[in-house]
Parts: sequence; C-alpha cells; structure tokens
Amino acid sequence: MNSHPISIANHQRVVVLTGAGISAESGIRTFRDAGGLWENHRIEEVASPEGWAADPGNVWRFYSARRAQARECVPNAAHRALADLESKIGERFELITQNVDDLHERGGSIRVLHMHGELGLSRCEDPTCGTEPFLDSRLYESVDMIARCACGARIRPHIVWFGEEPFEMHRIQAAVLRCDLFVVIGTSGSVYPAAGLVNLIATRRADGATARAIYVGPEPPLNASSFQEIRLGTACEIVPTLFHVRESEAE
Ligand code: APR
Ligand code: ZN
Repeated sequence: MNSHPISIANHQRVVVLTGAGISAESGIRTFRDAGGLWENHRIEEVASPEGWAADPGNVWRFYSARRAQARECVPNAAHRALADLESKIGERFELITQNVDDLHERGGSIRVLHMHGELGLSRCEDPTCGTEPFLDSRLYESVDMIARCACGARIRPHIVWFGEEPFEMHRIQAAVLRCDLFVVIGTSGSVYPAAGLVNLIATRRADGATARAIYVGPEPPLNASSFQEIRLGTACEIVPTLFHVRESEAE
C-alpha cells in the first residue's frame, strides 16, 4: 500500500473534507457504527425537522449531551496535522468539515467551513425571524428549559438536519472545482451532497486537469470508486505524515 507523502508543489491548491472519522480517535463516536443508532438514538428522531416538531425537548437533550461530550474531548494528531498544513500553504488550503464539533479549531485550524453546522451555536427556529446564529454553550435538558428568541419562538441547534440545505455549498463547490488535490478523511460517503463533492474532481479530470482525489479511513467509503487512491488506516495513523510541502516552495 502507498504510504509515501503526497508532495504539494507551489501554487497547488488542497481541499480537505472531513467526517466523523477524524474525531473518532478523540473519543467522539461516528454516526453509523452502532446498527443505525447514534448514541442510542435513531438519527431521524434527533436530526430532522420532523423530530424537532414532534419532540423539541428530546432533540435538545440529545444536542446538550453532544455539547457536554465535545467539551471533554481534545483534538488529535490528525486535526493538528491539518492545522499545520494550513499554516504552511495558507490560502491554497481549504478545510471543509461535516463535523459539528470544534476540534479542528481547537487543533489550530483557522478557516473551517462547517457545512453541517456547529454544536456551539444556536439560532431562532423561525427562518423568517432574521436574527443571526449566536454562540451558545447552554444545556437544555427538558422542553421547559429551551430558551426563547426575542420574537417568542424557540431556539434550536445551528445544525443541518436531514432534509435541510447544508451551509456554504456554493463556496465549497467552487473550492473543490479549483483544487489540485481533494483529500477526504473519515466519512462513510453516504450523506449527500457532501458525498457527491468528489464527483467534481471527475469533471475536472475529464477536462484534462491533473486533479486527484484521495480517501483516508480504515475502510473504503460507499463512493470509493470515485477516488483515484484509497489509503487505509485511521486518521491519526495516516494524516500526520500524509502531506509533504516542498520546502523551497512553502509560502
Ligand atoms: N479514522 C478515520 N476514519 C474513521 C475512523 C478513524 N479512526 N474511525 C471510523 N472512521 C470512518 C468509518 O470507516 C466511516 O467511514 O469514519 C466514517 C464515519 O462515517 P459516518 O458515521 O457515516 O459519519 P459521516 O460520514 O461523517 O456522516 C455524515 O451524516 O448523520 C449525518 O450530518 C451527519 O455529518 C454527518 C453526516
Ligand atoms: Zn426569532
């Protein structure tokens, strides 16, 4: 198996997409590793507009537990390696994550696109309200504890649920379309549109570009056939030695 570092030349652009797998070695469980259950909840029950409408107390109990859990966890060597790469190639690097934890930021990454939202933010549940999402570390353990917006509606987690539109998709697609290297780490390739981003690399290659896509994780993802290379192993095993920035060409 190929374990050579990927050489990043001057002017090459790198986009990394991470999923739950990169936080696994920090102690945050992935979604699809327990028979369709996510920390003992059916995903749709806690991560859909229907689940929220049916039982907002249950949804907030779940995300409150995730908030409390994330605080106990620390970034791992893979998070830090991505921060290191950003510090070396700056604007030529984009980090996109499906994760709602803040381990990338705490690992030193500066620019992180959270396409599925962030655990540390809440917002008004009324999309017409117009107030901005805000920092919120509170835990809401029951339905009566849920804070209200000034407009009177409940506040909800700033998380993209099933059936909702991910954030920043135009920016994300533009970044993938202009990159030379797309590295995907620790995601099962089962949730769209994230799982479809790699197909933009195929579009570029069809145009004659040398762009390539590499997957890193302990098992091939569902969309494995879209990658030019798969590196099997955990994020902490692979990512810290994955990139080689050619010294003379580092910014
Ligand atoms: N290092 C790297 N990858 C790992 C590790 C590890 N130590 N451990 C597990 N993995 C891989 C698994 O092989 C799996 O492919 O991480 C992936 C986790 O897959 P999922 O649980 O499906 O998580 P993810 O793909 O991030 O889920 C996507 O689904 O529930 C929604 O919005 C939620 O962002 C989430 C989205
Ligand atoms: Zn409001």
